[in-house]
Amino acid sequence: QTGKFTYDPGFTSTASCESGLTYIDGDAGVLLHRGYPIDQLAEQSSFMEVAYLLLNHELPNKDELDKFTYTISRHTMLHEQLATFYRGFRRDAHPMAIMCGVVGALSAFYHDSTDITDPQQRMIASHRLIAKMPTIAAMAYKYSVGQPFLYPDNSLSYTGNFLRMTFGVPAEEYEVDPVIEAAMDKIFILHADHEQNASTSTVRLAGSSGANPFACIAAGIACLWGPAHGGANEAALNMLREIGHPDRIPEYIARAKNKDDPFRLMGFGHRVYKNFDPRAKVLSKAATEVLDKLGISDPVLDTARELERIALSDQYFIDKKLYPNVDFYSGVILSAIGFPTTMFTVLFALARTVGWVAQWNEMISDPDQKIGRPRQLYTGPTQRDYVPVGQR
Ligand code: SDX
Repeated sequence: QTGKFTYDPGFTSTASCESGLTYIDGDAGVLLHRGYPIDQLAEQSSFMEVAYLLLNHELPNKDELDKFTYTISRHTMLHEQLATFYRGFRRDAHPMAIMCGVVGALSAFYHDSTDITDPQQRMIASHRLIAKMPTIAAMAYKYSVGQPFLYPDNSLSYTGNFLRMTFGVPAEEYEVDPVIEAAMDKIFILHADHEQNASTSTVRLAGSSGANPFACIAAGIACLWGPAHGGANEAALNMLREIGHPDRIPEYIARAKNKDDPFRLMGFGHRVYKNFDPRAKVLSKAATEVLDKLGISDPVLDTARELERIALSDQYFIDKKLYPNVDFYSGVILSAIGFPTTMFTVLFALARTVGWVAQWNEMISDPDQKIGRPRQLYTGPTQRDYVPVGQR
């Protein structure tokens, strides 16, 4: 399709909002960011380019990209008192719990970028969030493994800086592996934005009341954590490891089909896609490429491929149009890079912060936007009179 997408006037939309950032055709398995197909962006652009595109409507030229990247790099450090904040968590705290807490705490620090009526302050808050998420994520990981925090090194790329803060140690030089940097950047691009998913809708709803932007993003992180949403990448790899061998796949397929069993194939199915999630196609290809380049052979990838093959030929999955989604293959790559499963959703949140702040800006800058107020279908009792407790 080319040209402007417009709603059919007869289309009785249940749409919660209008947005120009991301277009999804769930039946065709199409995902466009401001008109650019996700596979082209994933294969040819960088996460900083996609961040610029989502925030500023157009892909940047070289000069614009350099200026944007420099601006982001000015905000990568975290207030020192926030480093102390980490020490209040238990060492075994889930990194998503830490990320939720620390991002919410940003609202107690950066008061010069919370006047949401000021476009400049909105953009500073957005840049701060995009810039600080890698630092916050890396510190959550370091805290969980008992290693010292590393400060950002702005001579590195956005993604290279994150990898060094995560896997580097003060005692040694850290060389950013270009294969890993490219794989990580691609994963960030694929997770950047996805229309009005649950966590983005949470950010929009929180933001619609005029709430502190940092607190709104913390609300999005909380929602993303759920295993039905962003938490599925951690759950999918744990499921694939639990299956252990292709011979055990039929047992799990049977469980997934059993209505009385709450088990779901993690990384399968989607509220919108009734075809392949285009991001899963890119990640499926990248999984083979990255593991080959890193010289890693992970039996989990074989299990994933066999599970996909069996599920996609099973009538239940065919009838219900259940396909692999973005969370099915991402964990194989993240594990090969060296992340524990507990960090997978943290990485999703790091990348999705770009989409959250872009969607928040789009909503807040609309002069006609009103506070969100979903309604309900009331299913309780009709009106009745109070009965004093002695007579009940
Ligand atoms: C993300 O919205 C977004 O855009 C989200 C996301 C983003 O980028 O923000 O794309 C990221 O959240 C991807 C989804 C990650 N979640 C998982 O992989 C968890 C496993 N998937 C399921 O829990 C499920 O598919 C959901 C939650 C994603 C969607 O569930 P729905 O709304 O029930 O999906 P559906 O209406 O299409 O289901 C149709 C049927 C239902 O059975 P019936 O009621 O018709 O009998 O298929 C069943 C579902 O129970 N079903 C599954 C299944 N997913 C749906 N059965 C087995 N295994 C599954 N994975």
